[in-house]
Amino acid sequence: MADQLDTLVICGSLRKGSYNAALARTLPSLAPPGLALRSAPSFEKMPIYNFDVQQSTGFPADVNAWADAIRSADAIIIVSPEYNWSIPGGLKNAIDWVSRLKEQPFNGKPVALQSCAGGILGGSRMQYHLRMSLTALDAFLFGRPEVIVTFAPQKFDEKTLELKDPTAIDLIKQQLAGFEKFARKVSGKG
Ligand SMILES: Cc1cc2nc3c(=O)[nH]c(=O)nc-3n(C[C@H](O)[C@H](O)[C@H](O)COP(=O)(O)O)c2cc1C
Repeated sequence: MADQLDTLVICGSLRKGSYNAALARTLPSLAPPGLALRSAPSFEKMPIYNFDVQQSTGFPADVNAWADAIRSADAIIIVSPEYNWSIPGGLKNAIDWVSRLKEQPFNGKPVALQSCAGGILGGSRMQYHLRMSLTALDAFLFGRPEVIVTFAPQKFDEKTLELKDPTAIDLIKQQLAGFEKFARKVSGKG
């Protein structure tokens, strides 16, 4: 088998009981053997982006750590909720910070998107906005299948937060298998 692709998983939600974080934790058990998954460092403590801060004190250590994790990965999976029809502010702030680095880490990276939402539409608009922002940073966004775990509270175990919906599980497996092929083409690590 070809070498495993080092795949970084970024979660857009910071809350303890997050469905998106629960999905991110499930991914290693659903991924093909060719993807080796690891979690990104947290962006929780990054200050709000401000060019004056960047100029006076440089990039914060958390920003550099997040960028290094992205830069060193072969592929990226972002698992995030939708906030007010868009990207959660914390995640967008982290993207804004690293976008100002000289060696911009999303450049040329294959990226897959997933989300969990309380209703039927949540996630789709956030994914569309992420596609725009990351395309602006020269990342390559995986197309289909798209993964949105709708009505998430019904699909995760209430106590253990284990994903128990077979349809969602199948879809995620299909996406990860397709993403591995896509990421090998994009990264040249066939
Ligand atoms: C600030 C905020 C804005 C939200 N906006 C949306 C939204 O636009 N669309 C939607 O489907 N859900 C929205 N939600 C509900 C979240 O999708 C839901 O709480 C989800 O479970 C959060 O993800 P998590 O469980 O991973 O933390 C919003 C929640 C918060 C806290």
